[in-house]
Amino acid sequence: MQPLPAVATDLNDPLMSTAYVNGSTMPLSEARISVLDRGFLFADSVYEVIPVYAGRCFRLTDHLHRLDNSLTGLRIGNPHSIAQWSSLIGELITRNTDEKNTGDLSVYVQVTRGASPRRDHRLPEAIKPTVVAFCQSRAPVDATILNSGIRAITRPDTRWQHCSIKSTSLVANILAADEARAAGATEAILVRHGGVMEGTSSNVFAVIDGQLLTPALRDSILPGITRAAILAIAARDGIDHAEIETLTPDALRAASEVWITSSTREIFAVTRLDDAPIGDGQPGPLWTRMHSALQAMTYE
Ligand code: PDD
Repeated sequence: MQPLPAVATDLNDPLMSTAYVNGSTMPLSEARISVLDRGFLFADSVYEVIPVYAGRCFRLTDHLHRLDNSLTGLRIGNPHSIAQWSSLIGELITRNTDEKNTGDLSVYVQVTRGASPRRDHRLPEAIKPTVVAFCQSRAPVDATILNSGIRAITRPDTRWQHCSIKSTSLVANILAADEARAAGATEAILVRHGGVMEGTSSNVFAVIDGQLLTPALRDSILPGITRAAILAIAARDGIDHAEIETLTPDALRAASEVWITSSTREIFAVTRLDDAPIGDGQPGPLWTRMHSALQAMTYE
């Protein structure tokens, strides 16, 4: 790939972040794709959100492998090798880092099937994927959230079956997230066939009888990179943990601790669920330990 031309950046103004579209860079406010792009018309596309700490991506290779799996799931050819993705993302981070923006940001990457000559449900024969990437600043997590935790609600999971694919078809997620907002909560935890799956944009953990539990991966759960990091910390530190087939909403409500995890939120304690406290209504001791361990891992 050609080195990218330089563009001035001011990440404090999100529209001024340097964006990447199909090999070129420009201010995000000037980035354009075709209205015939299938990502726009059909949500025929996948994405990743990669957190960056002091200029370094956290678990980039895992994100890139998941991107590749998502592309395979939608039968879109991966336009870049891991090495090409790494250099493209690395250059974008450099361009979005200066004395004001010191490299605590997240990189959004989206790959669509591309633009067809006409709107048509059938998959076109030869089509070049569209690649878009841009950065957003990652503000430190609000102290109130760390001290008090968040409220969450449970909602039926109305998404399609293949939620292990990180597709941009997120309308069911955003409507459930909006129901959470309307109920004064920060996240909606989605329940399918009597079992907790995940949040609208997070994975879910519970501490029950001293054991750390999370729903086992399946087609209806995104294999979260933060989830994997939490499980790795638990294994490393000898914390009793298991991935379980069925975590019922009632078991979640009765847990001593509930957490949500994601690349942007890291690890939040859920201290109220469906209007009742979790445990004593405060972030629990295992959350405190895991939060510190994750902080250490992200900056290590
Ligand atoms: N979402 N489950 C869903 C449905 C998600 O959208 C996400 C993350 C996660 C957590 O995955 P990870 O730990 O790899 O970030 C689980 C991103 C942050 C987003 O859509 O912005």
